[in-house]
Amino acid sequence: MILKLNNVVKTFGDVNVLNNISLDIKNKNVVTIIGPSGGGKSTLLYLLSGYKESTSGDIQINEHILKNDEKFLIEYRKQIGIVFQSYNLFPHLTAIKNITLVLEKVHNYSKKEANDRAFELLTQFQLYEHKDKLPIALSGGQQQRLAIVRAMSYKPELLFFDEPSSALDPELTVEVLNTIKTLKNSGVNLVVVTHEMCFARSVSDYILYLEEGKVVEQGSPLEIFDSPKTESLKKFLSNTLECRKFSD
Ligand SMILES: Nc1ncnc2c1ncn2[C@@H]1O[C@H](COP(=O)(O)OP(=O)(O)OP(=O)(O)O)[C@@H](O)[C@H]1O
Ligand SMILES: [Mg+2]
Repeated sequence: MILKLNNVVKTFGDVNVLNNISLDIKNKNVVTIIGPSGGGKSTLLYLLSGYKESTSGDIQINEHILKNDEKFLIEYRKQIGIVFQSYNLFPHLTAIKNITLVLEKVHNYSKKEANDRAFELLTQFQLYEHKDKLPIALSGGQQQRLAIVRAMSYKPELLFFDEPSSALDPELTVEVLNTIKTLKNSGVNLVVVTHEMCFARSVSDYILYLEEGKVVEQGSPLEIFDSPKTESLKKFLSNTLECRKFSD
């Protein structure tokens, strides 16, 4: 992925939530964003995914040069996939319909193409036996997996995740994060906000440490976790819980 930001500012009222962020990232498939609560991680993710507009500055992600223009952003959002913390599944539709509706209505798949694609993904992500259930009849981990499957169903080049495991218990967290690791191996570009440091360490090609609206440190997992330079990153890492296990 290419991720170039030039003096990006996002202001809510008179508060600068993102403060002159500049980045020049190339050839990284998985970029994760870590940092303390309120630091601006979700805001940055929403700018990159076209769900919020920057106040000023320039953003390029792969070949997309983002514009603060609703028409442009609607088209851009069709080309990416995003998984929000709260799944955003359609509650009145079965698991399989949650996938096929988006493929048919937004991405112009025929009924058969949509069904074939849904079957393929539901099987791959161990959801096939749940295909006719409503979201309420699925566990948290299954719902989150379904949201991930739906986001990737139309083969977007970019997938964004905002704390994909934050609503889950430890076992389901591992299940969902391993699902994301599977995606990494499929070659799609991922931008992930996470507070699971062990996951960040194992899945990331590049990590941004964001605090108070600034990228305070950035680098490879090795640089970030094994030789943090700033006191603030050292303190942040010392306060995080021990790693859980993720399969490779
Ligand atoms: N729509 C909004 N209006 C006003 N302030 C906002 C809005 N959205 C976010 N903020 C503020 O911007 C700051 C950054 O929020 P953001 O959600 O990006 O943080 P975060 O790093 O994702 O935090 P967390 O880890 O708790 O999810 C916070 O102080 C938040 O209160
Ligand atoms: Mg957030």
